[in-house]
Amino acid sequence: MTTPITILGIAGSLRRASINKAALRAAQELTPTGARLEIFDLEGIPPYNEDLWTPAPPPRVTELKQAIRAADAVLFVTPEYNYSFTGVLKNAIDWASRPSGDNSWKGKPVAVLGASRGALGTARAQYHLRQCFIFLEMPALNQPEVLINHAHEKFDAEGKLTDAATRERMRQQLAALVLLTQQLGAPLPPALTR
Ligand code: FNR
Repeated sequence: MTTPITILGIAGSLRRASINKAALRAAQELTPTGARLEIFDLEGIPPYNEDLWTPAPPPRVTELKQAIRAADAVLFVTPEYNYSFTGVLKNAIDWASRPSGDNSWKGKPVAVLGASRGALGTARAQYHLRQCFIFLEMPALNQPEVLINHAHEKFDAEGKLTDAATRERMRQQLAALVLLTQQLGAPLPPALTR
């Protein structure tokens, strides 16, 4: 584990005015002392194609895999598209899970949040995304969940998260992710290493 703990933050939207990118920027501000959140933008990751691994993988894929490797934990911030998480996020997850035997996500503690204008605040997207963590072998933070509903009322025109309750919940989630990361990175008690 690095000191301070590094969280890699990835938003599942490419658009400039994305509310989920805005939420990720807010998460950066709300990351506790002793940790830092680095943002990786998914722009430039091509659609997954097994042929593109040779002769060398796309540079942005290599950068993504390196960023995951360098991080202690991951935060996914996902929009909801058709009751699921977005294709660009799934595509990035797929790239970094390969080649076979070199799954960059493996073992990285992960938390999820998401923002939408709807009433459920990306709940369905988040539960779909959580299903992937089983195969990826990512230990997931269960609580607190951060479902930013009616998001258009919670961000200002500059994309700043202005809703105090949401900011507090995100602060608690990030603190819990850091704690989980520390717990998982701690040496095993002697009884278990024998
Ligand atoms: C959406 N949107 C949406 N919202 C939602 O709450 N549930 C949904 O199932 C969907 N489905 C959906 C499908 C597609 C193809 C699009 C483009 C949009 C609305 C979506 O939440 C909204 O556009 C967000 O603003 C997208 O997130 P970003 O880009 O602002 O981060």
